[in-house]
Amino acid sequence: ESGKLWGGRFVGAVDPIMEKFNSSIAYDRHLWEVDVQGSKAYSRGLEKAGLLTKAEMDQILHGLDKVAEEWAQGTFKLNPNDEDIHTANERRLKELIGETAGKLHTGRSRNDQVVTDLRLWMRQNCSKLSALLWELIRTMVDRAEAERDVLFPGYTHLQRAQPIRWSHWILSHAVALTRDSERLLEVQKRVNVLPLGSGAIAGNPLGVDRELLRAELNFGAITLNSMDATSERDFVAEFLFWASLCMTHLSRMAEDLILYGTKEFSFVQLSDAYSTGSSLMPQKKNPDSLELIRSKAGRVFGRCSGLLMTLKGLPSTYNKDLQEDKEAVFEVSDTMSAVLQVATGVISTLQIHRDNMARALSPDMLATDLAYYLVRKGMPFRQAHEASGKAVFMAETKGVALNQLSLKDLQAISPLFSGDVSRVWDYGHSVEQYAALGGTARSSVDWQIGQVIAAGAGS
Ligand code: ARG
Repeated sequence: ESGKLWGGRFVGAVDPIMEKFNSSIAYDRHLWEVDVQGSKAYSRGLEKAGLLTKAEMDQILHGLDKVAEEWAQGTFKLNPNDEDIHTANERRLKELIGETAGKLHTGRSRNDQVVTDLRLWMRQNCSKLSALLWELIRTMVDRAEAERDVLFPGYTHLQRAQPIRWSHWILSHAVALTRDSERLLEVQKRVNVLPLGSGAIAGNPLGVDRELLRAELNFGAITLNSMDATSERDFVAEFLFWASLCMTHLSRMAEDLILYGTKEFSFVQLSDAYSTGSSLMPQKKNPDSLELIRSKAGRVFGRCSGLLMTLKGLPSTYNKDLQEDKEAVFEVSDTMSAVLQVATGVISTLQIHRDNMARALSPDMLATDLAYYLVRKGMPFRQAHEASGKAVFMAETKGVALNQLSLKDLQAISPLFSGDVSRVWDYGHSVEQYAALGGTARSSVDWQIGQVIAAGAGS
């Protein structure tokens, strides 16, 4: 006896290197709890179908509770023959309750079992990640609210573009994360579908009521086709893509903050709690937290493309390649959990240097507003753009700031300039012009905060 669940038709021993190669217990042990949960539901389904007596079901349920208890208390002993979590739990169940344990797997395959487990695990984990994501978003919104009146330069192409509110920058990232939260809910919807009762490929021939299994495990729906159900990993791919996109957003925010934290910018300063020093250069304080957030994006994206690459090579139905889905899910889940918590810490402890931000604003960033000034006097925008461009050129030639040109200088460019042009040179006045919803005016920033908070309340 090989001690294996599938030992019956085998006479030769498995090469130890193959044994190790095939084993997934090192990581799928994380599924112990959902595996027990799935088995308990399945034994209820078997009893309902008349395949277990009430007494046998109770015996199995009780035994499974013992198995779970051992895992929870850290006393579950793996043995070298435990190929995966399903094998380990069933082996232990048999030790605890005897031959009745052999009835549990009636009509079930590890193919429908493992994907049921994974869906149960991911359902729980997505809720955890969603909560962490919202902690980050709320931290960002709090800052945006508290620091609404801080102005600093907005950049396009990393060149000074237009004055914006610091809170507008924060919200630009928070809004992206809000979409990630929305997307995660969508993923969860498709995770929350029950494959159990699909067997290995053809379905269940013993009258197991899948609707009952669905209700037992509180799934939203049941899968439609047993061949598809046991092999599709769309929900895993979607989760990994969700994580990749979310990481792309966090990486972009990290990159901005790394830049804003350089001595050259000095807009922000990272808390010591999220920085590290140099073993050689005593003066250094490095933004390692942000750099690691940026780097994890690559790792997560690698897992996403890795899974797609695996799926792409497969024929229909279950193939062992699918075993590798779990490492991707566990690693990415752990990474996302850590990244979201660190990002929350970084944002909540970040110091901003308002004076440096204000000092970095320069009159040339108001050239667009100068054009809008002329537009308001009736000039077509293309002409106004040209006129403002001439003013920029004139200031450059004279070696003065744009706001240092005299009224006479400006009037030489267009007679529409008059004394009220001086208002253009006020940064506060500038940002308040951008009051259309979505812009950097205070009213619009408040509106954005309201929208984000409302999205959070609904999730
Ligand atoms: N450990 C396997 C996995 O993770 C369980 C399913 C194995 N099924 C099989 N027929 N070999 O995918």
